Amino acid sequence: FKIPSPKNEPGNTYAPGTKERASLKAELERQSNTVVEIPVIINGQNITTDKVKQVVMPHNHQHVLANYSEAGEKELRDAVEAAMAAKESWANMPWEHRAAIFLKAADLISGPYRDLINSATMLGQSKTAIQAEIDAAQELADFLRFGVDYANQVYQIQPDSMKNVWNRTDYRPLDGFVLAISPFNFTAIGGNLPSAPAMMGNVVVWKPASTAILANYYFMRILEEAGLPKGVINFVPSRGSQVSDIVLTDPRMSGFHFTGSTATFQTIWKTVGENIANYKSYPRLVGETGGKDFVFAHESAQADKVVAALVRGAFEYQGQKCSAASRAYIPASLWETVKDGVVEEVAKIKVGDVRDFRNFMGAVIDKPAFDSIANYIDYAKESEEAEIIAGGTYDDSVGYFIQPTIIVTTNPNFKTMTEEIFGPVLTIYVYENDNLEDTLDLVDTASMYALTGSIFAQDRQAIVHLENRLSGAAGNFYINDKPTGAMINQQPFGGSRGSGTNDKAGSVFNMIRWTTPRVIKENF
Ligand code: ALA
Repeated sequence: FKIPSPKNEPGNTYAPGTKERASLKAELERQSNTVVEIPVIINGQNITTDKVKQVVMPHNHQHVLANYSEAGEKELRDAVEAAMAAKESWANMPWEHRAAIFLKAADLISGPYRDLINSATMLGQSKTAIQAEIDAAQELADFLRFGVDYANQVYQIQPDSMKNVWNRTDYRPLDGFVLAISPFNFTAIGGNLPSAPAMMGNVVVWKPASTAILANYYFMRILEEAGLPKGVINFVPSRGSQVSDIVLTDPRMSGFHFTGSTATFQTIWKTVGENIANYKSYPRLVGETGGKDFVFAHESAQADKVVAALVRGAFEYQGQKCSAASRAYIPASLWETVKDGVVEEVAKIKVGDVRDFRNFMGAVIDKPAFDSIANYIDYAKESEEAEIIAGGTYDDSVGYFIQPTIIVTTNPNFKTMTEEIFGPVLTIYVYENDNLEDTLDLVDTASMYALTGSIFAQDRQAIVHLENRLSGAAGNFYINDKPTGAMINQQPFGGSRGSGTNDKAGSVFNMIRWTTPRVIKENF
């Protein structure tokens, strides 16, 4: 059947004087004066456990936004059983009815609950209004609407049949249940990780990141309101080690949908490998992990475009996008202009509480992130191979604030040039114009990742050469644009090498991982 043609959800600007801004501000005020009690949700039941933890605002860490119950061993076991109990009726629900639930959820998010989920994302994850809008309101709705369309496309991939024969493909859900573990940095990813497998008829145990629980919880409630049957997605804030012991290693775990760190994904992969003989089916492992995303400027690049890409790519959402520009290669001939430009632009950036809409950056997510990023900055401060030309300061007395920081290094393999920092730190290496090929080798090999990357050039021969030369260095490759901000159905997202399985979030490729097809041949 025909699904309503999805369109990318248009965004609000929240410009001064708009009614959208007034309405969002009112919701921010309401949520700032509320403490939400968040239960574990198993089989549609709200469960309070004796392990209650707090959700605080990263930009004001004494302000408690919510208390959440952490699932323990019993709840995790119950969540698996609830998922398995819901499996048959969910798989047998006619596809159009499954689809309707997610389409309705998208309309609820982009309509009546837009302010709710945007505010929760702003307060809980320290996103500015614009960053919350492109994530929670737009991308999450896009994931759901396009996801339904992608699933529908999968169902229509059918084999040919010869005379007197009818061949069909029955796109069954995976044999057991799917485990989804989601990150803090995108409310949209939090929503998509359990939803994509569920659209394809799977049941899910969902462990959200402890630092994104508020927005993720509201999403779970929205799914319920949209009619998601009990037990199809079970919401279990919990500790990773317990999830690994109880859920990941359960023989019925047949799919794993993950976005998070490379180290965690590798540990999970090893655990699955060690237990491989115990599983009923080989689990599908789909992961989007780290990045060390590059901006490479050719001598023919327009310097002002490079400056804009560096500032937005590196510092929007405090550099906490897996796609964030984090290392840059600038030709000596452009360096003075680019340097003046980035220093001038960074000086204009305001960092602070995201409820003040003049701020371009909020806080980094939590204390461990703050300490880790500050350590990288200190390392650069102490090195003779590096100079800090902007920022370099941090203060966690009120919130986890780190000023946008630019390091220039003479060593292209400097630590901050090769390791993922996941914060507002950009490292630049200035290369000699006649050293192009060696520099391209560095771009390709300096990190273990291959997620996003941008090249800047006007010379078309150069663009052709760079595109070919860096073909393995990024799953999302940008020409004359920043390396962030991939949109659903416009730039399907994901990378290879240390950056993940490159199953392209928001695409048919991803959906196809959540089915184990049966091919049926019938003779007439
Ligand atoms: N999809 C997000 C981006 O491209 C991660 O920035």
